[in-house]
Amino acid sequence: MNSAESFCEQIGLEIPVVQAGMGGGVTTGELVGAVSAAGGLGTVGIMGDHAFNATLGKARRIAGPKRPIAANLLVPFVHQSHIDICAEQHVSVVTLLGVGAERWIHALHARGIPVHITVGDAEQAQRAIAAGADGLVAQGIEAGGHHMAVKPLAQALPEILDVAAGRPVLAAGGVADAEDVRRLLAAGAMAAIAGTRFLLTDESGAHPEYQRRVLEAKQTLRTQLFSFGWPLPHRVIPNAATERWCGRDGTAPAWIRSIGRVASPVSRVIPLSALGTVAKLQRVNLGLFTATLPLRSMPAEFADRTALYAGETLHRLRDIIPAAEAVARLAP
Ligand SMILES: Cc1cc2nc3c(=O)[nH]c(=O)nc-3n(C[C@H](O)[C@H](O)[C@H](O)COP(=O)(O)O)c2cc1C
Repeated sequence: MNSAESFCEQIGLEIPVVQAGMGGGVTTGELVGAVSAAGGLGTVGIMGDHAFNATLGKARRIAGPKRPIAANLLVPFVHQSHIDICAEQHVSVVTLLGVGAERWIHALHARGIPVHITVGDAEQAQRAIAAGADGLVAQGIEAGGHHMAVKPLAQALPEILDVAAGRPVLAAGGVADAEDVRRLLAAGAMAAIAGTRFLLTDESGAHPEYQRRVLEAKQTLRTQLFSFGWPLPHRVIPNAATERWCGRDGTAPAWIRSIGRVASPVSRVIPLSALGTVAKLQRVNLGLFTATLPLRSMPAEFADRTALYAGETLHRLRDIIPAAEAVARLAP
C-alpha cells in the first residue's frame, strides 16, 4: 500500500469528502463536528488561539473521540500556539496555505502531525514537496476564497499528481455534487474538498445575508481587493466594495494592491480575534479591505464592506442544508 492509498485508512476517513478550511469563523464547531460525525473530514479554519481551541474542542465533542478532524492554517498568521493546540486536540492532518510554509511543516512534524500544502501547479507542488509536505491539496481556479490556484483543476490535478509521486493529493475547487467527487477520485485524488457547499449549510458561521447573496449571485470575481495583509488573490462574489473598486474582471487598482503588500507585515500583528473590530473600521469608499468575511455575529451591512468568498459552484448550489446532508449529497 503506498502512502496515497493509505491516506483515508490512516486517518479513518469513511467518505472521501473534506470540508475546506475556511478562516475567520465560518467553520464553527457545529459545522466541523457534523461533517466528521457524518463520515467526512471536518476542518477548523484559522482564528485566534482561544476560539481555535474552543472550536476544535466543540467539533471533537460533536464528532466523537474516534472521528478524524483536520485544521487549516494560513501561513502568514500561524503562531506556535496554533501548532500546540492542533497537537493537544489530536488533529489528524493540517492543511497549510500560503508562501513559506517550511518552518510550520517542521513544527507540525515535531508534534507528529502530517501536513498537506495547498498548491496550484507543478512548480508550487515541487516547492511544497522539497519543503517536506506529506501530501498536497491541488486547488483549481474555480475555488472560492483564498487562492494558490492559477489554472482550472482539470489541468492542475494531473501535473500535481505527477509531482506528488505517490503522496496523497486532495482536490479542491468546483466540487458541488457526488459526480464531481467521483470524477476527481477517478483522476487520482484521494478525496475531494468542498468549501462553498459547506458555507451554505445551517451550521456555517457565515452571516445569513452573505449566504443569501451567494445563492443569488450570477458571477464570481478573482480579485486582490481584499489584500490588506494578504496579497494573494481570492474568489468572491460582487458587493458594494468590488463594484466601487474593481474592473469587470475583478482587477483592483494598483495602489490598493501595493498598500496591501506593504501592509502585510504590519497586519500580521493584528490579533485574529480582532478581525471583527477591523471589519467595523472598513468603509467602502476608503478602499482598504482585510480578508475578513461577514459572520453571523456581525451586522448584515458588513456584507458590503467585507469579502464575500464563494466559488464557481454557486451556479449549481440551490439551497442551505444541514452539513450532514451536504456530506451525504457529495458521497461518491
Ligand atoms: C468562505 C471561504 C473561506 C476560505 N478560507 C480559506 C482559508 O482560510 N484557508 C484556505 O486554505 N482556504 C480557504 N478557502 C479556500 C478553500 O480551502 C477551498 O480551496 C475552496 O473553498 C474550494 O472551492 P469551492 O469553494 O468551489 O468548493 C476558503 C474558501 C471559502 C469559500
